[in-house]
Amino acid sequence: MSDEKFTRQTLLDVQTLTPSLFTLRTTRDQGFRFRAGQFARLGVTKADGSVVWRAYSMVSSPHDEFLEFFSIVVPGGEFTSELSRLKPGDELLIDRQAFGFLTLDRFGDGRDLWMLATGTGIAPFLSILQDFEAWERFDRLLLVYSAREGKELAYRELIEGLEQRDYLTEYAGKLQFIPCVSREQYPGALEGRITTLIENGGLEAAAGVALSPEHSRVMICGNPQMIEDTRALLKARDMQLALSRRPGQVAVENYW
Ligand SMILES: Cc1cc2nc3c(=O)[nH]c(=O)nc-3n(C[C@H](O)[C@H](O)[C@H](O)COP(=O)(O)OP(=O)(O)OC[C@H]3O[C@@H](n4cnc5c(N)ncnc54)[C@H](O)[C@@H]3O)c2cc1C
Ligand SMILES: NC(=O)c1ccc[n+]([C@@H]2O[C@H](COP(=O)([O-])OP(=O)(O)OC[C@H]3O[C@@H](n4cnc5c(N)ncnc54)[C@H](OP(=O)(O)O)[C@@H]3O)[C@@H](O)[C@H]2O)c1
Repeated sequence: MSDEKFTRQTLLDVQTLTPSLFTLRTTRDQGFRFRAGQFARLGVTKADGSVVWRAYSMVSSPHDEFLEFFSIVVPGGEFTSELSRLKPGDELLIDRQAFGFLTLDRFGDGRDLWMLATGTGIAPFLSILQDFEAWERFDRLLLVYSAREGKELAYRELIEGLEQRDYLTEYAGKLQFIPCVSREQYPGALEGRITTLIENGGLEAAAGVALSPEHSRVMICGNPQMIEDTRALLKARDMQLALSRRPGQVAVENYW
């Protein structure tokens, strides 16, 4: 076995969602283990031979044979300009080790699991929802996914098909999917930012359940300003970060 800190994987599939969003599927090293919600560092080799690394959350579940990722294309971005050029058959470097604390280990109890995402921040929640644990442990799973425009809401089919999967049918009815679109009216979606919808009560009204320190456990992922603003709103309701030295109701992952 090579003693490099990464393995070389092969791109199996690339799907373009919009000019700035795409998904990619790769082979998976047999030794690569992760908890749903974690991320890995991906590396792409530039024309000059240097390698650029960035963190990416796994979309696929820990029991899938492949790895899947969901990516933005940042105009002029050092990493995504290269990544978005790759085609099936090309090579992607992937760290041997997975990282991150946006996992269910953060919460010892709780009745309702709220997952709040902006943009590509939906990725870790797709992994968590494709695994059993959240479905076993929580009575309600609330997936709140905010994008600027309706066409940027990815993985609709995967989300809508979760409760029909053989291993999840016994939990059917637990998941509530609440898409939010901030820059246009879009059928079936709430209108506005997650923060606005928490402040004006629209999110809890749509969910039919309150955000409370007693029952809610809240994971937040994506835009760092959204995370900061949401944390402040939750803190005002006595909900705080779960730390190893102090139990809490909130866990976050900033994407930049
Ligand atoms: C723990 C962790 C997990 C991550 N997981 C993902 C993931 O699953 N999918 C993903 O697309 N990115 C993810 N990112 C972001 C990713 O690491 C890179 O920032 C992204 O690939 C852009 O790289 P770049 O070199 O092209 O631009 P950079 O120079 O890295 O970023 C330039 C700017 O682009 C914006 N930006 C960066 N990433 C995003 C994003 N995801 N959505 C919207 N705006 C963004 C920010 O304004 C940032 O300052 C994650 C980051 C962290 C820290
Ligand atoms: N040129 C384009 O048409 C276009 C389209 C999409 C993305 N992009 C590029 O992609 C990047 C942004 O990607 P993105 O749209 O996935 O991410 P984003 O800007 O983080 O927006 C995703 C969602 O998060 C919301 N949001 C942002 N800040 C928030 C805050 N403080 N509190 C609560 N909600 C907040 C947005 O609402 P708001 O809509 O209210 O901000 C939107 O609903 C940029 O680099 C941009 O250049 C460009």
